[in-house]
Amino acid sequence: MLILITFLIASVFTGGIVYGVQGLVSEEADEGTLVDGVKLFRIEASQWNFSPSAIKVNPGDRVRFIVTSADIMHGFALNEWGFNLALTPGLRLRHEVTIPADFPEGVYANYCSIFCGIGHPYMKGRIMVGNPALFLGVGMGKILPYGATVVMAGVFTAFIIAGRRRQDEADT
Ligand code: CUA
Repeated sequence: MLILITFLIASVFTGGIVYGVQGLVSEEADEGTLVDGVKLFRIEASQWNFSPSAIKVNPGDRVRFIVTSADIMHGFALNEWGFNLALTPGLRLRHEVTIPADFPEGVYANYCSIFCGIGHPYMKGRIMVGNPALFLGVGMGKILPYGATVVMAGVFTAFIIAGRRRQDEADT
C-alpha cells in the first residue's frame, strides 16, 4: 500500500513538472508563408527567445529567414545548415537555405550565438524537418517525457522500498 502511494505521489510530482515544461516547449510550429516557391519565415529574437520559437519545413524546401532583434544583439545559428547570423537591433537580416532533399527528418535546435545575458544559454528555437518520429499521430517529444515520468517514479519507489528493506533488516 505504501509502495502504491509513494508511486502515485512521485508520479503526480514529476508529472506536474513535465506538464509545466511541455507548456513551454509545445508551441505549434510555424509553417511559414509560401512566396514564389520559397518558404518565408519572419523571426524576431529578443531576450531570451525566438518568435516563433518553432518552425516546420520539409526536406527539399527552399527557406528564407528574415530575422530581426527586438532589443539587444543576438545570434541566429543552426549548425546543421551552417549559418550563424549576428543580429543588430533595428537591422533586418535575410538568409536563404535550400534544404537537401535527403536531409534527415528530425528536430533541430537553432540557438543564439552572441552572449545576451543570463538567459543566453537557454535561448533556443526548434526547427522541425519533415514529420519526425510520430507515434499514433503525436510527436514523440510529447510522449517521451511522460514515459520518463513513469520510469522516474518507478526508480524513486524502488529506492523507498530498498530503504525500507534495509530498515527492516536493521530492526530484526
Ligand atoms: Cu540571445 Cu544570446
